[in-house]
Amino acid sequence: MQKIIIGNWKMYPTLSDTSVLAASLRTSLDTIKGAEIVIAPPTAWLLHVMDIWKTRPGHVHFAVQNIWSDDQGAYTGEISAYMLKDLVGYAIIGHSERRQYQKEESEMLSEKIKACLKWKIKPILCVGETKKVIEDGKVNSYQWSKLSEQLEDGLEGISKDMIENVIIAYEPVWAIGTSNPATPEYTAEVVKKMRALLAEKYGEKTVEELPFLYGGSVSAHNAGDYLRNPEIAGLLVGGASVKAKDFTEICQIASRVNH
Ligand code: PGA
Repeated sequence: MQKIIIGNWKMYPTLSDTSVLAASLRTSLDTIKGAEIVIAPPTAWLLHVMDIWKTRPGHVHFAVQNIWSDDQGAYTGEISAYMLKDLVGYAIIGHSERRQYQKEESEMLSEKIKACLKWKIKPILCVGETKKVIEDGKVNSYQWSKLSEQLEDGLEGISKDMIENVIIAYEPVWAIGTSNPATPEYTAEVVKKMRALLAEKYGEKTVEELPFLYGGSVSAHNAGDYLRNPEIAGLLVGGASVKAKDFTEICQIASRVNH
C-alpha cells in the first residue's frame, strides 16, 4: 500500500505565501510516484491553490481542515461537506486544536464523519492523548480511557462498510508542534492497542487494513523512521508542510518506502 502524506497548512500561510508555496510544491510533488499526497490549505485559499494546480496528477489530492455536518442552512462561518464534495477528496475531522479551541466533541465529530462519507469525502479522524498512554511499559488507564473514548465515540454509527473509507490520524497532543515527537515504536504500540479495540467492533481483517497515520512534530529528518514501520500508514504533517523543501523531502521518502 502506498503511504499517505497529508500536509495540514493550518492557519499559517497568507494569500501571497500560499501562491509561492503552492507553485513550488506543484513543481516538486507532481513527479513523485508511489505516495498519496494530500494538501489541506486554509479553506479560503482552496480555490486559489486548485487554480495553481490546474492539471493535477492522480496522486495529488486536496483536503479541508474541517467541515460542518448539515448540507446547507443557517450556520454562519461554516462550510459543509456537501458544498465541498466536488473540490476535495479528504477532510480532517476532530483535530486536537479544534477539540481544544472550538470545543468540538465526539458526538459532533461522528456526524461530521457521516456527512463526509455521504458525499464521498474521506474523513481523517484525529485522536490523541494529552499525556503518554504507555510509560515504562505501563498503561496509564486514564489516558487510555480518554483516547479510546475519542476513537469509539468519533466512530459512533459508522458501520463496517463505512469504516473502509475512514483514515485515523493518531496525534498525541503532547507531541504536536513541539520538538518532542512520539517515537515510531511508541506510536506502533499505541496503534496496535487502538486496532485491537476497533477489531471488537469491525473484525480483525477490516481493522488490519484501516490506515493509521502518525502526526506530531514530523520533519524531513524523522519521517523515514515512521514510514518504515508497518503499523504506520502515513503522516499528518503540520509545521513542516508549509516549508516546500521539507514537505517535498517527506513525500520523496514516502515514495521510496513500500511495505
Ligand atoms: P506539527 O502538527 O507537525 O506542527 O506538530 C501536526 C498536526 O497538528 O497535525
